Amino acid sequence: MTTQREDRIGGAEGKLHEFPDEWKEGVYRAIYARRDIRSQFKPDPIAEDVLARILRAAHHAPSVGFMQPWDFILIRDVAIKQKIREDFERATEEAAVKFAPEKEAVYRKLKLEGIREAPINICVTCDRRRFGPVVIGRTSQPVMDLFSSVCAVQNLWLAARAEGLGVGWVSILHPRELRRILALPAEVEPIAYLCVGHVTEFPDRPELESAGWLPRMPLGDVIRLDGWDTPIQNKWEELEAEL
Ligand SMILES: Cc1cc2nc3c(=O)[nH]c(=O)nc-3n(C[C@H](O)[C@H](O)[C@H](O)COP(=O)(O)O)c2cc1C
Repeated sequence: MTTQREDRIGGAEGKLHEFPDEWKEGVYRAIYARRDIRSQFKPDPIAEDVLARILRAAHHAPSVGFMQPWDFILIRDVAIKQKIREDFERATEEAAVKFAPEKEAVYRKLKLEGIREAPINICVTCDRRRFGPVVIGRTSQPVMDLFSSVCAVQNLWLAARAEGLGVGWVSILHPRELRRILALPAEVEPIAYLCVGHVTEFPDRPELESAGWLPRMPLGDVIRLDGWDTPIQNKWEELEAEL
């Protein structure tokens, strides 16, 4: 008999130092096949056990000083979603006029949220008070608790992909409105507003790439050696071609 914990980590094999090939394959597959979903949500409800698994994956994210500063506010209420959506409309209008005219026209055509279509929305927060004011690792860099909640978002996003669920991150929202609508205490920061649900498809490429907004940068352009001034390109471009 394996324990519940062993089941989660793959029985005794879970303690292996190296992952067998199929585990590695699964991890990379979730990473490369994950997409930000806005247009492809289906109304089908998410089974409770699946929801529990993705939330547990999020809760197992790394966190500064093991502070676990996140909370996950599950939003199913149509009236609350509608209020959030109205704030999105205001925020997206404010954003549109900030782009150069030719980009503004493209921006206005993009679908950048699935708040009402997704059966569930999840607001991931960061409770900056959790376990008191002095946290290992946060003393010289106070933002580390915020980063920890972002790690939870990424775990949730990847676990959701493995479960066949799409996630869309909506950041075109005013934090003050999120705070008001969701009644967040002053010390709790809204980190991510996520739309989650089953999808008709996962696009092969980021939608912003397909829409001609921006391309994916070559890996070699973002790797530097021993400091900012020495980019190292060739080797990494070759490696990327193999992916
Ligand atoms: C912090 C963050 C905020 C984002 N905000 C939005 C958003 O408001 N609306 C949206 O449509 N996509 C949003 N996205 C999704 C990105 O546009 C998307 O991740 C990127 O285009 C790459 O596509 P992919 O996630 O499908 O690989 C956000 C992503 C991150 C990480």
